[in-house]
Amino acid sequence: MASTPGGSGGIDALAVEARRFPPPAAFVREALVRDASLHEEGRRDPVAYWARHARELLDWSTPFTRTLEWEAPFARWFSDGRLNASYNCVDRHVLAGRGDRVAIHWEGEPGDVRTVTYAELHADVQRFANVLLRLGVRKGDRVNVYLPMIPEAVVAMLACARIGAAHSVVFGGFSAQALADRINDARAKVLVTADGGWRRGEVFPLKPQADVAVASTPTIEHVVVVRRGGNPVEMTPGRDVWWHEAMADAPAECPAEPMEAEHLLFLLYTSGTTGKPKGIMHTTGGYLAHVATTFRYVFDHHPDRDVYWCTADVGWVTGHSYIVYGPLANGATQVIYEGVPNHPGNDRLWSLVAKYGVTIFYTAPTAIRTFMKWGTQEPAKHDLSSLRLIGSVGEPINPEAWIWYHEHIGGGRCPVVDTWWQTETGGIMISPLPGATVTKPGSATHPVPGVGAEVVDESGTPVARGGGYLTLTTPWPGMLRGVWGDEQRYRDTYWSRFPGRYFAGDGAKLDDDGYLWLLGRVDDVMNVSGHRISTTEVESALVSHPAVAEAAVVGANDATTGQAIIAYVTLRGGQRVGEADLRAHVATEIGAIAKPKTIYFTPDLPKTRSGKIMRRLLRDVAEGRNLGDTTTLADASVVDELQRRAHETPAED
Ligand code: WTA
Repeated sequence: MASTPGGSGGIDALAVEARRFPPPAAFVREALVRDASLHEEGRRDPVAYWARHARELLDWSTPFTRTLEWEAPFARWFSDGRLNASYNCVDRHVLAGRGDRVAIHWEGEPGDVRTVTYAELHADVQRFANVLLRLGVRKGDRVNVYLPMIPEAVVAMLACARIGAAHSVVFGGFSAQALADRINDARAKVLVTADGGWRRGEVFPLKPQADVAVASTPTIEHVVVVRRGGNPVEMTPGRDVWWHEAMADAPAECPAEPMEAEHLLFLLYTSGTTGKPKGIMHTTGGYLAHVATTFRYVFDHHPDRDVYWCTADVGWVTGHSYIVYGPLANGATQVIYEGVPNHPGNDRLWSLVAKYGVTIFYTAPTAIRTFMKWGTQEPAKHDLSSLRLIGSVGEPINPEAWIWYHEHIGGGRCPVVDTWWQTETGGIMISPLPGATVTKPGSATHPVPGVGAEVVDESGTPVARGGGYLTLTTPWPGMLRGVWGDEQRYRDTYWSRFPGRYFAGDGAKLDDDGYLWLLGRVDDVMNVSGHRISTTEVESALVSHPAVAEAAVVGANDATTGQAIIAYVTLRGGQRVGEADLRAHVATEIGAIAKPKTIYFTPDLPKTRSGKIMRRLLRDVAEGRNLGDTTTLADASVVDELQRRAHETPAED
């Protein structure tokens, strides 16, 4: 068993993964990047690398002459340039004669469809920008968006960008209280919502929640309501307007106003596990350059023939960067789907891949592990041969889930891009480039060109090999510009742990070949008899057992070993395995030190609404504590079930 070569209290690197996947020859032949030259360019001069891409991939109304001004921890990118994000995502494609290209193949959960071309998007964005102006929204204001996954969400965001109002999108699954907190923190003037949206065969109401929220948000002057669910809603005269009525009245033309590159584009709140949500600030030029560049290279995007699909919700940063700004800046054709993946059947996503001929598919490990649970017969029902590249984001992807994805969704022929990044980084930071990088299942491989990352130990010294803390060493264009209204929190949260470095909060290890492996949030690291063990590695060892679909591991207080490893395991459909067998399996995979003391079998795991496993709650369950706030859970009943099982403690061996 390997232990920490990095020494001084990093994180032990235990797992070894030997499988390698070079880019397939057929893929490389057509790939935008086929060798190390782009990485070399980025290494030589990251600032020049980003300047070149900002010039080549974006249209500027005033070209910039200053690329980066860096007064740590504050960066300004392209600051004397001007551009408009909505112009870059829409107008210029229409002006170039591509107005007939489909921007969005939209599919509602009940099966209704809409096809939105770039010309139609252009018309809608202009009209809605005029609606916002008529409602009193001006450059520098904030607009809240609380919508289902419908094209209006994209239109609303781009319309804000067009007139220089920052949007703050709140995921439609969040409660009235969460919405009110975010509106009040942002001091938003207008709220854009819908009557309701479709989910799991039913309409979930949004407007009634919005009404509750707006009762305690003094800054909201108007509420715009899209009719989608058809559910009854109350409209407050003078305050509320229907989207379709306001659009019908609005002038057709609204020129895109050039914005300073550092003009605030949006706020997006991250909840984290503790504390008040932070309004992460992103500005126009740097953010757009970062997401446009990474979208193009990481997804090897060919606008004339690719059909792209990212399954995220616009309420998360993945939806902002890789549904709205990155793809549209590149003139992409994409699929947007409103509903859940198991309605009406567990094969809904695969039927859509076949229907639209999706070539690039981007989803989350939590979804992949759910597909594993549902079984290989679901994707096998459909022709997925249009796919040529598949990606993952949001959590560490366990090697076994990676292999399953590669085989059963990618047909063994598609490169897999495991992309590491955060709300705060704005865009992808660590990822293979699919035509150039030899991948290893479970490793996000290397920083993308123009990005600097290092793994450091407790004292902030870089480690050449082994486990530690992931830090970013140089400013990048998509980096957050701060926490809305709280500069101190920005400094404390991201820049104080390791002076001069951005600390992401994640553990990572470097293997012998210099590949990066993400080990999860450092708050989740366990200390067992003095060994710092990452929950991710033990989870991956469990998931590598053929009977296991998903696992969550936590360290619970233990009189003997400091912390003991407790595992919660979900089996694949129709599979059985004993606790002792699984413990032995972990011992074989990564060593006896990592054997869980106790394993609970459970049909589900508690997750945040964006699909991340909530280990903090599992720790509370394991240590018999009363549970605090469970309102950020996707399904709170899962925890009751786990608590019930914890009381029927299984035998330990
Ligand atoms: C985790 C999502 C491992 C990580 C874009 C990060 C990942 C947090 C990966 C940010 C990945 C995201 N491998 N871990 N490929 N991608 N994470 O802000 O812990 O919702 O810090 O942004 O997700 O989550 P956020």
